[in-house]
Amino acid sequence: MWTNRIVTLITSLAAKVLPPPSNLDYSFIQICTLNWTWTPPENVSSSCDLEYSSDIVIDEVPQDKREWSKSRFRVTDTFLNEEMRFQVRSECKHDNTSEPSQWVETSLLPKGIPGTAAVDLSCVWHNLEYMVCTWRPGENASSDTNYTLFYWFDGLENHEKCSNYSMHQGISGCIFDLSFPKVTSTFPAIRILIKDESEEIRPVCASKNPTTLVKPATPRQVALSKINDEIYVKWNESDTFPENCLVYEVAYHNGDLDTTQIIKVENTYTSIPSVDPNRKYSFKVRATPKPECYSSKLYSDWSEEKSIGENNYSAFYVGLIITIPLVVAVSMIILLVYLKRLKILILPPIPDPREILKRMFGEQNEDSQSCAKDDSVNAYDRLIKEEEIHSLILTETPECANSEQEKR
Ligand SMILES: *[C@@H]1O[C@H](CO)[C@@H](O)[C@H](O)[C@H]1NC(C)=O
Ligand SMILES: *[C@@H]1O[C@H](CO)[C@@H](O)[C@H](O)[C@H]1NC(C)=O
Ligand SMILES: *[C@@H]1O[C@H](CO)[C@@H](O)[C@H](O)[C@H]1NC(C)=O
Ligand SMILES: *[C@@H]1O[C@H](CO)[C@@H](O)[C@H](O)[C@H]1NC(C)=O
Ligand SMILES: *[C@@H]1O[C@H](CO)[C@@H](O)[C@H](O)[C@H]1NC(C)=O
Ligand SMILES: *[C@@H]1O[C@H](CO)[C@@H](O)[C@H](O)[C@H]1NC(C)=O
Repeated sequence: MWTNRIVTLITSLAAKVLPPPSNLDYSFIQICTLNWTWTPPENVSSSCDLEYSSDIVIDEVPQDKREWSKSRFRVTDTFLNEEMRFQVRSECKHDNTSEPSQWVETSLLPKGIPGTAAVDLSCVWHNLEYMVCTWRPGENASSDTNYTLFYWFDGLENHEKCSNYSMHQGISGCIFDLSFPKVTSTFPAIRILIKDESEEIRPVCASKNPTTLVKPATPRQVALSKINDEIYVKWNESDTFPENCLVYEVAYHNGDLDTTQIIKVENTYTSIPSVDPNRKYSFKVRATPKPECYSSKLYSDWSEEKSIGENNYSAFYVGLIITIPLVVAVSMIILLVYLKRLKILILPPIPDPREILKRMFGEQNEDSQSCAKDDSVNAYDRLIKEEEIHSLILTETPECANSEQEKR
């Protein structure tokens, strides 16, 4: 008791602590948008230039969104699927004789069962005409949960309910029209709320900057023409984009997909000079917003591929198909013949004994007709033996060579 009083006394002496604001409250002014309000503190000296400092804490994490203002309210976004705490205190500006008040705070607790809010919300703004948003049910929500999407942006009097739903492989989607006058260059953030009729399903809010979500439509009416050896490509301008707000990519190849070339163009036409006249060329085009107009990096889908020219190289190819195997076959034959000759040179054929005999007999018959038959028979035997020995020398091991010597 005593110490408390003393501390209070000391602090009030050291610096005058300001009284805090009171009656802190909030109200929804739109889906996902809150107006936090409070009343000023009492008995603040007229010398104090009073202002309020406020901050936001989400799921116990300070958001570093401190703001100072003289007004008695602050408007913020809310996400609804997390606890949001709002804190405010009074301060005397340019006054170091009084301490800021203590913080007063109030919190907005999430409703419904944890893990039932829609997740993976993603939106694409197609051709500046309509928004397509997709999401999945939360892990604790049944897969047939009927989430409803609402949207609102500054300039729209009341929030709208999306009505064109789709479901594909567990991913829910909804499409709604979204367009602004063509002259507009700044776009309001789109607030999106996804919730269910059921109290158990936790609602979730998101704020989307539409300029980052722009996806142009596929370029239409891609037309090809060929003059001399130059191919001209052109396509229709977009109806929905302001002039000079799209850049295009033209991809082309001549049959071989690996050699696809991509050129970037700012106009709705281009040309490819000095193409191979005997080739068929295929083209496709896609668009992307210019960074000067929109900060989206999304590309349109590619247009359907269109081709020009004929592949006149067919005769040439047929020729190739016939000549290649022919050349291979001929060279194989040449090689074989050559190898055979080479073999003769390296490994001379083993002489046939009968051939030699025939030759010898022929000679003998010519030289000495009177030679005895016995002698000729002996000579024949000897010759055969010699031949055998010779072949042995050629083919057998040295042992045989020894035996040959013994025989001799
Ligand atoms: C927020 O509420 C205060 C007090 O009711 C009001 O004066 C103020 O205009 C509101 N702000 C907005 C943006 O509606
Ligand atoms: C404000 O001052 C008046 C008169 O000086 C006093 O009656 C009142 O209790 C004070 N209020 C607060 C909240 O201190
Ligand atoms: C208060 O601020 C003034 C000028 O801003 C300075 O001269 C003075 O020393 C400060 N007093 C204290 C107690 O900090
Ligand atoms: C789903 O529910 C379980 C049990 O109530 C809870 O532990 C879990 O954290 C929930 N999932 C999410 C993503 O909140
Ligand atoms: C969602 O709607 C469909 C058709 O209206 C219904 O069959 C289904 O039960 C609903 N899902 C839930 C979780 O209520
Ligand atoms: C709903 O969206 C589809 C495209 O997914 C579209 O073809 C259809 O016209 C839309 N229906 C309405 C009523 O807008």
